[in-house]
Amino acid sequence: MPCQEASLRAGLLFSPLVSDMWLNLEQVEQRLTTRSLGRVISYLTTTTSTQDVARREAEDGVEEGLTVVAEEQTAGRGRLGRSWVSPSGKNLYVTFVLRPGLTRLRALSMAAPLAVANALQSATGLSAALKWPNDVLVSGRKLCGILIDSELAGADVRYALVGIGINVNFDVEENSEIASIATSIKREMGAPASREHLLAALINEFERLYLDTPVPAVHSAWKERLETLGRPVTVTFRDAVHEGVAEDVGPDGSLVLRRPDGSQMVIEAGEVTLRAPGR
Ligand code: BTN
Repeated sequence: MPCQEASLRAGLLFSPLVSDMWLNLEQVEQRLTTRSLGRVISYLTTTTSTQDVARREAEDGVEEGLTVVAEEQTAGRGRLGRSWVSPSGKNLYVTFVLRPGLTRLRALSMAAPLAVANALQSATGLSAALKWPNDVLVSGRKLCGILIDSELAGADVRYALVGIGINVNFDVEENSEIASIATSIKREMGAPASREHLLAALINEFERLYLDTPVPAVHSAWKERLETLGRPVTVTFRDAVHEGVAEDVGPDGSLVLRRPDGSQMVIEAGEVTLRAPGR
């Protein structure tokens, strides 16, 4: 495959590259139960962003399920034009190339954070809350961010790129830019965690929710874990700021906001800040 330093079918792995610092993909492969996701892993020690690599592969016609994993991103991207801090050998930076229909495309923003929360629980025992639209929080701080890029051709979905960044063994405290708002598994557990176990659990769980679970079941499991519901919130969407109570979520993942004047507003995407009650 083009554009990568090491592109490997999971399982045929590269003893020369194995080190304590780098992922052992053999261990990941041994734990996979999937038929599509993670069956081909494109592994890079460094790249600009796994989204860039995944996009090139998707444009070249790669099959659904390709999983791009990098040890480091030099230009990691977040939602709303932000950057994603991506130091080497510490965390997980993963992008899945998918080719869903429209209904499954809409469900990705629910399935992906739910998969992360379930994988986190099974691999580490940590219990996560979800914040609309798709942040994963532990102890009120962000542990994982999700970026979904999609390419449409009219009403058809050409592909979707689901990018997931999980802070695993990152010493977040040493990064003053994000220390107060972000956390890592290491920070929460007081000890480093196995990135291999977590990555395998994530791939297994994401495939289960994406391919094998009806969308209404994904929606209700996601809704149950959303800490945003019932809370007073400020939502920023396309440069406008809306205040109200996060009353519900629609079947497509949109947020239903009850405004102070009693009117309802449906917001498809944006950024939520939780406000203290009464504010
Ligand atoms: C956010 O919360 O703002 C989304 C962060 C998404 C980060 C992941 S890391 C893997 C993939 N590659 C990127 O450049 N971004 C996503």
